[in-house]
Amino acid sequence: MSAIQRARRERERAGEPAVPRPRAVIWHDLECGSYTADLPLWRELAGAASTASVLDVGAGTGRVTLDLAARGHRVTALDLDPELLAALRGRAARAAGASVQTLCADARAFALARDFTLCLIPMQTIQLLGGAAGRLEFLARARKHLAPGGLLACAIATDIEPFDCAAGDLGPSPEIARVDGAIYLSRATRVQVARDSVRIERERSVIAASERSAASSTPPVHERDVVELDRVGVSQLQREGRRAGLSAVGVRAIAATEEHTGSVAVMFGA
Ligand SMILES: C[S@@+](CC[C@H](N)C(=O)[O-])C[C@H]1O[C@@H](n2cnc3c(N)ncnc32)[C@H](O)[C@@H]1O
Repeated sequence: MSAIQRARRERERAGEPAVPRPRAVIWHDLECGSYTADLPLWRELAGAASTASVLDVGAGTGRVTLDLAARGHRVTALDLDPELLAALRGRAARAAGASVQTLCADARAFALARDFTLCLIPMQTIQLLGGAAGRLEFLARARKHLAPGGLLACAIATDIEPFDCAAGDLGPSPEIARVDGAIYLSRATRVQVARDSVRIERERSVIAASERSAASSTPPVHERDVVELDRVGVSQLQREGRRAGLSAVGVRAIAATEEHTGSVAVMFGA
């Protein structure tokens, strides 16, 4: 049996589809998938309604969507990236009883024919929307899609510590996964904090796990990934929410972990 056939067998045994995961999905799972510090808060907010109707904005491969759907909530997962949503759909289909719909759309310009009791934008995704103008567009969209009494919760990172591994700082340990006979490794190497933005640099490597692995025919890949987060504080976001017709109803802290910075969930009512 070839290495590719063996890898396919392993995936089938694990309930994964026989199609290899796209690289975008592998990186997303590696860099976001293990984060759990925010889940208790989203579960608590969704649990306030016995069966919540949840809109998960910037859902990626479904870290939050699948967790809430497994608890009986109806979740619509919205993301710009069709590959990530395809992976999410596959996982939802294999999770018995999960009620999940997906929408490939921009968070600043979506329109759905239904309202939600809870709208979440986890993991600083609101800091990826192109500054104040983009955030305002999203906030107005979210307000239009909240049911009376509904809640919007936006996770923002306000106290990000800069570091630079090239200057001798340690930085967080790398995240590592073995997929399809290759080792995927991602390490945050530099965080630069400027007046309006935070630049996060990661080094990503793909290395064949062994001479006989499925990936051994392709050379090692090393690439740099850069993400720029807009800086926004709690009171600024609350002001923007009010401009979009929302009322600020409080904040909740999400604790830092060894690998992830702490954040604040800023909450709004319809
Ligand atoms: C940091 S990831 C968070 C993923 C997921 N919510 C989680 O917590 O694991 C940000 C996600 O937002 C999506 N995204 C970025 N800009 C977007 C936009 N303008 N509209 C919709 N989704 C967007 C990305 O494709 C990515 O999946």
